[in-house]
Amino acid sequence: MNDLTRSELLEPEDIGTNNSNNPSFDSLLGARLSRRSILKGSFGLASTAFFGTGLVACGGSDAVATTPPTTAPEVVKSLKLNFNAVAKSLADAVSLPAGYTATVLYRLGDPIAAGVADYKNDGSDSGASFAQRAGDHHDGMHFFGLGADGKYSANSSDRGLLVMNHEAITGSFLHAAGQTISNGVRTVPDEVLKEMNAHGVSVIEVIRSGSSFSYKKDSSFNRRVTALTEMALSGPAAKSPMMVTAYSTDGSKTRGTVNNCADGYTPWGTYVTCEENWAGFFRRVAASDDVSRTAREKTSFARYGVTGNGTHLWATPNGASASDTMFSRWNAMKLGSSTDGSDDFRNAPNTFGWIVEIDPFTPASTPKKRTAMGRFAHENAAYLPVVAGQPVVYYMGDDSRGEYLYKYVSTAVWDPADASKGMAAGDKYLDDGKLYVAKFNADGSGAWVELKFGSNGLTAANTTYAFADQADVLINTRLAADAVGATRMDRPEWVAVNPANGEAYLTLTNNSNRVLANPTSSQQLVDPANPRFYNDPKGTAATAQRGNPNGHIIRWKDASATATSFQWDVFLFGARAGANTANINVSNLSADNDFSSPDGLWFSQNTGLLWIQTDDGAFTDATNCMMLAAVAGKVGDGGKKTINNVDGATSKAVDTYVGAAPGDTNLRRFLVGPKECEITGVAETPDGKALFVNIQHPGEDTKPNYANPSSYGSHWPDGGSARPRSATIVITKNDGGTIGGGLA
Ligand code: FEO
Ligand code: CA
Ligand code: CA
Repeated sequence: MNDLTRSELLEPEDIGTNNSNNPSFDSLLGARLSRRSILKGSFGLASTAFFGTGLVACGGSDAVATTPPTTAPEVVKSLKLNFNAVAKSLADAVSLPAGYTATVLYRLGDPIAAGVADYKNDGSDSGASFAQRAGDHHDGMHFFGLGADGKYSANSSDRGLLVMNHEAITGSFLHAAGQTISNGVRTVPDEVLKEMNAHGVSVIEVIRSGSSFSYKKDSSFNRRVTALTEMALSGPAAKSPMMVTAYSTDGSKTRGTVNNCADGYTPWGTYVTCEENWAGFFRRVAASDDVSRTAREKTSFARYGVTGNGTHLWATPNGASASDTMFSRWNAMKLGSSTDGSDDFRNAPNTFGWIVEIDPFTPASTPKKRTAMGRFAHENAAYLPVVAGQPVVYYMGDDSRGEYLYKYVSTAVWDPADASKGMAAGDKYLDDGKLYVAKFNADGSGAWVELKFGSNGLTAANTTYAFADQADVLINTRLAADAVGATRMDRPEWVAVNPANGEAYLTLTNNSNRVLANPTSSQQLVDPANPRFYNDPKGTAATAQRGNPNGHIIRWKDASATATSFQWDVFLFGARAGANTANINVSNLSADNDFSSPDGLWFSQNTGLLWIQTDDGAFTDATNCMMLAAVAGKVGDGGKKTINNVDGATSKAVDTYVGAAPGDTNLRRFLVGPKECEITGVAETPDGKALFVNIQHPGEDTKPNYANPSSYGSHWPDGGSARPRSATIVITKNDGGTIGGGLA
């Protein structure tokens, strides 16, 4: 038995592979964009498009401009929180404000087909059975209303398809006594099959009866997409010679999806799942493989971190069938004699790292990996409200230390008639477009730089990596972004777009590699968009946590959907309430709303509230991970501020832009999860009266003593001596109101 707890595993996003020489901040380019000129300009999209579902003039002073009334003045409502903050907690339970109720809906192992037995939760359920059970580590999630005709119905709240990611696994509880490993080899193939089936995506039909929800075990819509499901490669990099494998000798398809972190959805009723830490799953022992690989291949592998034995040693099972490549395809070493890679899986890593579109309403449909949107450690994808005649725009983060923020702009312009066309609309809008990467400038402006072969130095003459064509630029998005001098950020996680005004928010979860001086190749200097360096001492031993251990949330406003410039400020800084408010607790958080390591980020389309979820290890001496609700302001509602960073004898002042402090009125802790969990993934019914939230990996950090179940780090949600399980909960307000707040 050799499985590791999460805290023992080195997680790729915590290490980072961006050793480029990019300045973490470029004060030259974009300085010509005056912050003032953008402030004066109006957002280029039709403002009515941002006020679709129940939003009437939220945003305080940014309320919709209206014609002066000629009769009695209209009462302008503003968005308000409707609950009292919950306290920080270390309990093995879900804490909610008074007046709210949570019920457990969908747990690890729960069956999703008739005839599949209840989950025993002792590790004895077969690997094959997991093709029809809930996967592990529930993550990003979306609720699609389901009409009586079996089709997408945007306003249906009583019946829907809940679609969610299963990002990773807790091997110690998935198997009877953890992963069976001998001399670096997985010796029980069924365990590996179970792990592959426990990754991916669930589609489940959910039904409301009264105020309570259940999922329909035998629904014909129920589906698991897993690490074994065939996927089409679509867009400019499909059929590239770099996609050729023994599974698909023309490079048109691949098998499976993994590390499905956060999510997105589309204006045409489909779901997108995002492949994050896929690189670690491949076995590629550089010491023996490098001699067989080209300089370009080695540069690419190093930049994406494709090296090592594979996170779970999936390439290695003893006794696996030689004719079925479901295990051997995780071996990315050059093993065959072909020149094109059609007899091995040397190119298999190029078929992962994408945005994957899934049609939840057609269970037999083939998911498509949308290569036009770039290849990196995708966190999520959030779109700007669509406007007829304008492109479809997505924002996407690459979650690893020092990585980048991206924007995708479709070539086709939005036709509302496409809203019912499913994957055909995906083919139209997501397979052909421009991909940009962000630069954040010192004056509060920013620039989107296009990643296009032949432009901005992305040619065969580039000295770090000789780009061959646009497919190569997309497969090696990170190298292209390095080449154009993008800004290295503090781990870009979720993006969320404010439906009230089209402004976008990005969680920068934390970064222990942020420094004040003399950065190594893997470290980044503080800069205006990532301005803090500090120590956050943890626990009674005051263990040092340095860099930016608590993270922040940055936001920006594009002048239009196609804009190549934007204006930004920092919406919120994570911190402990007692920390120095000048340079650490810059947003002046209190005991009712202090937090660390923001990750999940999502605007309710019903209420317009901003929800913030944490994936934290820094503040866990004081509290388990949590979810907060906020009333967002707007870019520029605060002002310029100087952060005076100190590290021993070194000090460095950084000028930045900081949004107005929210105070307890506009930011409150709504939920605290059970022990050793992460709160991630949130969805709502269109009426705003039910909120679905995922509780990921409770009890993951404590190595279990199987002979003594009381040793488990958590027993949530089943209680007693049960093994912990990742699960979806449903939150309702006891009086039937909308969740968290609304216009008042
Ligand atoms: Fe899977 Fe970046 O969180
Ligand atoms: Ca995440
Ligand atoms: Ca995270």
